[in-house]
Amino acid sequence: LATVLLLLAFASTVFASKDKPVIGLSLDTLKEERWQHDRDTFIAAAEKLGATVIVQSANSDDTRQVRDVESLISRGVDVLVIVPHNGSAMTRAVKSANEAHIPVIAYDRLILNANIDYYLTFDNVKVGEAQASYAVSHLPTDRKARIVRIYGAPTDNNAKMFKQGQDNILNPFIKAGQIEVVHEDWAADWKPENGKKIMNAAITKSGRNIDAVVVSNDGTAGGAIQALIEEGLAGKVLVTGQDADLAACQRIIRGTQAMTVYKPLKNLATLAAGVAVDVAKGQKPAVTSSLDNGTKLVPSIFEKVISVDKANLAATVIADGYHTAEELK
Ligand code: BGC
Repeated sequence: LATVLLLLAFASTVFASKDKPVIGLSLDTLKEERWQHDRDTFIAAAEKLGATVIVQSANSDDTRQVRDVESLISRGVDVLVIVPHNGSAMTRAVKSANEAHIPVIAYDRLILNANIDYYLTFDNVKVGEAQASYAVSHLPTDRKARIVRIYGAPTDNNAKMFKQGQDNILNPFIKAGQIEVVHEDWAADWKPENGKKIMNAAITKSGRNIDAVVVSNDGTAGGAIQALIEEGLAGKVLVTGQDADLAACQRIIRGTQAMTVYKPLKNLATLAAGVAVDVAKGQKPAVTSSLDNGTKLVPSIFEKVISVDKANLAATVIADGYHTAEELK
């Protein structure tokens, strides 16, 4: 009888994992507002498909995130969805997942040099292009324009892709002598206070005469704008961003930030939940694009992004229900 019961129990867990997949979601951080939206939408979409999600958040700590992933593996999840803090540090954790035959999906940020199954993200190069194009089209043309560039976390592969997109647009103007980059730096861990420090350093080094600050996300833009406020320059210098954070949308309405890049998270999170459930059930979702992560051409999906300023905030972010008009008052 004991053997029969044991077999039954075994069969039911195997069955459970097919019908009710368990997804391990390992997040770098919940610091930026967007990741809370990602998490909530992902869980809701996965549960709708009959899956359960176990969430871990590593608070920007690589050792902790590797431990998180290893604990999800030992809990026997059917698939891992990872937003890596550090695109290289996660390679080791993916190795453990490979050994346990658990498929891995990189969400939003790529994991480098690792055998991952899918990469689901936004078109990150387009994000950078949107930021730089917006700045370029609002810069003075009767003299050389002076800009500051604040990049994201050097440990995040996306930060490099945002910069690449910005370079695509800015480099011809820089080469032609129409734009001068008076200061540039990387904001470690995407911390707003690092954005502020870089902006302060830019003003100390090259003075108050700055036309635009091309910043890669809203969090660090908030830091840079704080520095501009303290100098009495907020609203006079064009600042870019990304994520359509509530605070950033409010700054756009007040005029201290010019634009943001809205990435409809519900599209990405819902897509990822669907892919995760399929993969957990042993299916192979057909994906036509790919990106080289150093180990392989990873089947990838790049969702569309939208450039947003005061003129189209209502028609995009609000119409999409990401924030309400009330919240933005
Ligand atoms: C994401 C951005 C986010 C940043 C900081 C990037 O990888 O693509 O949306 O603002 O990380 O969390």
